[in-house]
Amino acid sequence: MTPISRPRGTEDLLPDQLAAMNRARDVAMRVAGGYGYREIATPIFESTELFIRGVGDTSDVVRREMYTFSDRSGRSLTLRPEGTAPILRAFGESSLRELPAPVRLSYAGPMFRYDRPGRGRYRQFHQFGVEAVGDAEAELDAEVIAVAWDWLGELGLGGIGLQLNSIGDAECRPAYRQALLDHFAPHLAQLPELDQDRLRRNPLRILDSKEAGTEELMRTAPQTLDFLCDACQEAFQRVQAALRAYHIPFDLNPRMVRGLDYYVRTTFEVWHEDLVGAQNALFGGGRYDGLSELLGYPPAPGVGFAAGLERVVMVAPPGPAPERPQVVVCSAQPQAVPAAINLSQRLRRDGLAVLSDVGARSLKGKMRAAERSGAVAVCLLGDDEIKAQRVTLRRLSTGEQLSLRVDEVSAQLREWEY
Ligand code: HAM
Repeated sequence: MTPISRPRGTEDLLPDQLAAMNRARDVAMRVAGGYGYREIATPIFESTELFIRGVGDTSDVVRREMYTFSDRSGRSLTLRPEGTAPILRAFGESSLRELPAPVRLSYAGPMFRYDRPGRGRYRQFHQFGVEAVGDAEAELDAEVIAVAWDWLGELGLGGIGLQLNSIGDAECRPAYRQALLDHFAPHLAQLPELDQDRLRRNPLRILDSKEAGTEELMRTAPQTLDFLCDACQEAFQRVQAALRAYHIPFDLNPRMVRGLDYYVRTTFEVWHEDLVGAQNALFGGGRYDGLSELLGYPPAPGVGFAAGLERVVMVAPPGPAPERPQVVVCSAQPQAVPAAINLSQRLRRDGLAVLSDVGARSLKGKMRAAERSGAVAVCLLGDDEIKAQRVTLRRLSTGEQLSLRVDEVSAQLREWEY
């Protein structure tokens, strides 16, 4: 029979990788906690409408990448492709909106996009993110970036660069859209089909284009920063001043519009030199002041970012070595099994990580397995030990062997470990 394999674009997170991702997430939560962000969890599936209205039906995510299905009562549900729209929904629907603004929230969990699988690009991936909701102050934009920056710093990540842009708001964006249309209109027929479509649906999207035929025209395209209204210009200056105060270097990148429709004003990404092409972003984010209204709730301006944990772990230096068992407890004969199980339990209660090897196979086989386990020592229990009310403890790295009372084992193991 053909073996069943995992769905395309998904990964099994084996223990070493999962440990690395959990560590990255735990460090992130701790760093964000230091800025007052508290963890929230929203459902993994939501009404499809949430993403159509929130993320926007001109975005690739909604147009091409959603995992949408009908449940048994015919409701259209979607596996969440991102966390921001769900969090704004939860904010609007809960007592969170009565808290003093901004409400600082952090989250981590799986997201789903029917993306073309590749290095650093999966159909189920994991994000860590933060959202500061209910407050339009520009300094908050820098604060969320500072959370991300500190986090990557704690993980020891080098080779990163912050790309910063402002894409204006309802006041100034229409003029910029028009300028883009005017720039590309005379060349419409030469553009690749995909970009013609982008121009028709949402002209800003064309700045995302990686199509060869469009690159050339892009160089002379109007830039969003030249079209900002006074309020957006002032906000953008404040974001930059706050970033300088945090000592976070950045590059202005007027072509960075981001793939989701809800952004206004500040947008940013952090790129890593080892991640190339379309998946070079470790994380991305920005301000989304009109999103709450799109979802049918009162205004709740906000800003946040999300990072792909797989990508972060891919480029981060390795963390501490994975946990290994400290001791393997082996029974030498069937009569020694109860004593070996009791000893294992006692050592676990003392806080040690213990592998019990109390099956019927030969002691030689058990010793070989113990040597491969990475444990510090093996503890033997047989007839002789039971009679003498002692156990034999052997240090695997040196072969040194001691005969100890049961209550001496933990202390000896701890001594060998350090
Ligand atoms: P995003 O740029 O779509 O933003 O995704 C954020 C990050 O998730 C990306 O930079 C990348 O590291 C990771 N990511 C996205 N797609 C994939 C994939 N197919 N495979 C692996 N990793 C992926 C958002 O999701 C926004 N909600 C961010 C945000 C929060 N904006 C404001 N607040």
